[in-house]
Amino acid sequence: MSDFINKLILGDNLEVLRSIESESVDLVYLDPPFFSNRNYEVIWGDEGEIRSFQDRWSGGIDHYIGWLKERVAEMHRVLRPTGSIFLHCDWHANAYIRVEILDKIFGYDRLLSEIIWKRTFNSGSSKSISKKFPINTDSIFWYSKSAHYCFNKITRPLNEGALKRYDKIDEKGKYMWVPLKTVSNERLLILRESGEIREEYGLQYPRYKKYLDVEVGVLIDNVWDDIGQIATRPGNFERIGYPTQKPMSLLDRIIKCASDEVDIILDPFVGGGTTISVADKLNRQWIGIDQSVQAIKVSEMRLQNQQDLFSKPFIVQLHKYDYDKLRYENAFKFETWIVVQFGGSANLKQKGDFGIDGKTQDGTPIQVKRSDNVGRNVIDNFFSSVQRFDKPKYDQNRESGRPVGFVIAFSFGHGAIEEVARLHNRENVIIKLVRVDEIVPVSNKPVLTLQFADCGLDAKNNRIIEFTATARSENSIEFYAWDFNYNAEKGFKPQVLIDKHGKQTEQFKAGTYQVAVKVVDNEGLDSLEIIKLKVNGGVIKE
Ligand SMILES: C[S@@+](CC[C@H](N)C(=O)[O-])C[C@H]1O[C@@H](n2cnc3c(N)ncnc32)[C@H](O)[C@@H]1O
Repeated sequence: MSDFINKLILGDNLEVLRSIESESVDLVYLDPPFFSNRNYEVIWGDEGEIRSFQDRWSGGIDHYIGWLKERVAEMHRVLRPTGSIFLHCDWHANAYIRVEILDKIFGYDRLLSEIIWKRTFNSGSSKSISKKFPINTDSIFWYSKSAHYCFNKITRPLNEGALKRYDKIDEKGKYMWVPLKTVSNERLLILRESGEIREEYGLQYPRYKKYLDVEVGVLIDNVWDDIGQIATRPGNFERIGYPTQKPMSLLDRIIKCASDEVDIILDPFVGGGTTISVADKLNRQWIGIDQSVQAIKVSEMRLQNQQDLFSKPFIVQLHKYDYDKLRYENAFKFETWIVVQFGGSANLKQKGDFGIDGKTQDGTPIQVKRSDNVGRNVIDNFFSSVQRFDKPKYDQNRESGRPVGFVIAFSFGHGAIEEVARLHNRENVIIKLVRVDEIVPVSNKPVLTLQFADCGLDAKNNRIIEFTATARSENSIEFYAWDFNYNAEKGFKPQVLIDKHGKQTEQFKAGTYQVAVKVVDNEGLDSLEIIKLKVNGGVIKE
C-alpha cells in the first residue's frame, strides 16, 4: 500500500483541489449545494430551502454553472485515467450540469449512466396540492475518464414474488422449470444425465431445472428505488443532524460498483461525511473537503465514532493551528515542520550543527525555540553559532545588509528584542526574530466548563440529569457534541453530534458514568471536558 494518508480538509474545494496531484484519485462523488449569486447557501433539502432557491434562481444559473464547472474540471484532472465521477443533483440544474459541464469536460460519450434515485414514495401533504407531478427523484450522473474504468456488477436479492416462483424442491434445493432456448450439446448431455431436463412432446422448448441457490439476484439497473432518504425512516440511527445528509446505502452502492479496495475516493463537498464514512468501512482510502467547519468537525467525529484499534488513522487540516498542540506536542516534529512552513529546509541531523535547526533557500541559518518569552542568552548563543556554522555565508549576509539568521519562537522577551537592536546598531548584524503566528495562523482553543443538575427520577426510576456546557473562546462557538458513556480507552464516541446550545438532558440508571462534552469553535479548534458521576439515590461528582 502507498504512504497515502486519509484526510479531511477545511477549505474552498477549488483551492484544495488545485493542490491535489493530477491522476491520483480513483473515484469522485459530489453532492454540491445549489448556490445563487453571492449568497452561498445550501438550498436543496426541505421545502423551506426550496422556497429560498426559487427566490434567488433568476439570473443565477450561469453563475452557478460557471462556479461548478471550474471545480469539476479540477476533479477531472485529479482522476486517474481509469477513474470515474458520480455527480449528484436534482431537477433544478440537472440538464445544465449534464450538457454544460459533464459532456464538455468528460465528453458526451463518457456518460455511463444517469442514475435516477427515487428518494421517497411520499406524494402527500403539500405535494398533493401542487399543480404538477410531485418530484421524488434526484439524478446522479456517472461519467468515466476513459473507456477503461472499474465496474463491479451489483445485484439485489429477489423479491417475494420472484422467490415464490421457485415452488418445487428436490435433494439439491428449491427450483423451477424454465424454457431452455439455446444450449450446447455438451450441456444438454449433462442435463439429461442428471435428470435436470424435461423434453416433452408439445413443448416448444425443453425445460430445465433452475435452482434458487444459483440465482445471484437481479441486476441493478439505473433506477434506484430501493434506497430511502434518511428523513423518511422513523428513529433513524444513521441521522446525524447534518442537513442534506445522504444515506449510507446510497454511497455503499456507488463505492462498491465503481471502485475496489484501497482505491482513493474523493468527496469535495463532504458535508456530514457520508461518503468517507462508507469508504472507510469498505476499506477504501479517502479525501473529504468542505468549506464549513461544522461539516469537517462532524465528519471527524463520525469517523472517530466508527473507528476501532485496527482502523487507519486520518488527519484533519484546518485553517488555524491549535496553540497547545504546537507548543506542547513532539518538539522535533514541530521544529522540522515550522522550518518548512517558513519556506526553509530542516536540518534532520540535529547534531554537530551548532544547534541550527534549518536553513532558508539561500542557506541562511534558522533556529527554532519551541517556547515563549525567549531571552537574551538565546540570541547571543545563536549569534556565535551562525558565525561558526557557515562563515562565508555570514560575511556575505552581513556585508549586503541581509539577516545573518532567523530565530523562530512563540514569543520573545524584552532581553531578546534589546539584544537584536544592540547587534544591529553596534555590530551591524541583523538577526531576525519571527513569531510562530507570523508564519502560520495560531489560535487558542476554547475553554470549557461542564455543570449538571439533578432533576429527580422519571417513571422508570431512572435519574434525570441536566447538563450545561459553557465555553469561552476567542472565536465563536459552532456546536457541542456529547458522549454520555465516555471511555478513555475507546476515545470520544458522541451519541449527540450537533448541539448548538450546550444543553442536554439524559436519564441514567444507578451506576458510575463518565460524561464527556466537546465544544468546537468556528476555526475548528475543540476542547473536551469530562466529569465522572455516581448515580445512586442522587447524583454526585466523583
Ligand atoms: C449538499 S451538502 C453535502 C452533503 C453530504 N453529501 C452528506 O451526505 O452529508 C453540500 C456541502 O458542500 C459544502 N460546500 C459548499 N461550497 C463549498 C466549497 N466551495 N468548497 C467546499 N465545500 C463546499 C457545504 O458546506 C455543504 O456541507
